[in-house]
Amino acid sequence: MASFQWFFFLILFLYFMSFVEQGNARFHRVFHRKKQIVNLPTVYVDPSGHGNFTTIQSAIDSVPQYNKNWICIYIKAGKYREQVRIPREKPYIYLKGEGKRKTNVTWDGHNSIASDATFISEADYTIAKSITFINSYNFPPEGNVNPMQAAVAAMISGDKSTFYRCGFLGFQDTLWDVQGRHYFKLCTIVGAVDFIFGAGQSIYERCTISTNAGGLDGLIGYITAQGRISPNDESGFVFKDSAVFGTGLTFLGRPWRDYARVLFYNTTMTNIIVPEGWAAWSFVGRENQLTFSEENCNGIGSNTTQRVSWEAKLSQQELQQLTSLSFIDNEGWIMKQPVKVL
Ligand SMILES: *[C@@H]1O[C@H](CO)[C@@H](O)[C@H](O)[C@H]1NC(C)=O
Ligand SMILES: *[C@@H]1O[C@H](CO)[C@@H](O)[C@H](O)[C@H]1NC(C)=O
Ligand SMILES: *[C@@H]1O[C@H](CO)[C@@H](O)[C@H](O)[C@H]1NC(C)=O
Ligand SMILES: *[C@@H]1O[C@H](CO)[C@@H](O)[C@H](O)[C@H]1NC(C)=O
Repeated sequence: MASFQWFFFLILFLYFMSFVEQGNARFHRVFHRKKQIVNLPTVYVDPSGHGNFTTIQSAIDSVPQYNKNWICIYIKAGKYREQVRIPREKPYIYLKGEGKRKTNVTWDGHNSIASDATFISEADYTIAKSITFINSYNFPPEGNVNPMQAAVAAMISGDKSTFYRCGFLGFQDTLWDVQGRHYFKLCTIVGAVDFIFGAGQSIYERCTISTNAGGLDGLIGYITAQGRISPNDESGFVFKDSAVFGTGLTFLGRPWRDYARVLFYNTTMTNIIVPEGWAAWSFVGRENQLTFSEENCNGIGSNTTQRVSWEAKLSQQELQQLTSLSFIDNEGWIMKQPVKVL
């Protein structure tokens, strides 16, 4: 009798497990930082028609407004020709491609900087992983003869957003890090003029900053144009454990607003950096308000002997504040994300 009951329960158990398996198959598996598996509701974008949607935007459109739970939009490898926008009222969207070199989105908007970016992310709590955003207006610069114009590949204005193993490719104004706390890790950013700009409060960790300033016909490029507006403004760009290289010659940055703040920390720089390092642009005479700094960098381009006299020398305490994760995250939002990035 007892063994009969066992058999009965075993059959029942297997029966239920088959449902659990089927259920799991419909979810994309994500490893949480404690190594347990969390399943996220997932929709699939596949241009060949074997997923739920054939365009990325139609998948985003399917997410309810004021969404409160993470949803994964899994984007099959492919070259997507569309403009993609995550509106303000759709937080908790996780865009997951199949690889920086495999899933990419291309657009060539260049008329209005405010609305023409290839990827516009306005919502808080956005994650993008393993996907590249391209503005092809003047990219790649070889063979492109269009007049110089802002041509944004990504415009990011939501708070608490993470970009992991993403690419941002363009020529002028590639990545508009508009505002909000952002974490970029293992990303590649390509451009020639002001190609990382805005008033974001961001850490770029182990990123590749690649200039194509060689396409500027002898003009010198600018990597950053940061837009901090006052001494109380928390914004700033911190490049940490990264690498800077490419073609042509470039400044590390110029200010976009009065109190611009940029730090390159433990970053390798090849010989593409001009000796003076930074340009004051239209802020000559007010350089003391700027915080442009380099610390612990290496490579030929990091030689600071001929840098502008007003390059900032930060205290150990300031360096500690800017380079630790708490600069963008003093409440643990990064740890709570469904993607392990630390
Ligand atoms: C997406 O497609 C899968 C398999 O094709 C299906 O099981 C699932 O219900 C679809 N999800 C939505 C939200 O339509
Ligand atoms: C974009 O994706 C396509 C399809 O996977 C790939 O062949 C191409 O090399 C990618 N382009 C870039 C610039 O990564
Ligand atoms: C500096 O950056 C490199 C490259 O990412 C990394 O391997 C190394 O641990 C960093 N060093 C320090 C002292 O943080
Ligand atoms: C840095 O540059 C100065 C002047 O350009 C040069 O004399 C010096 O040797 C360089 N230092 C290193 C470590 O290359």
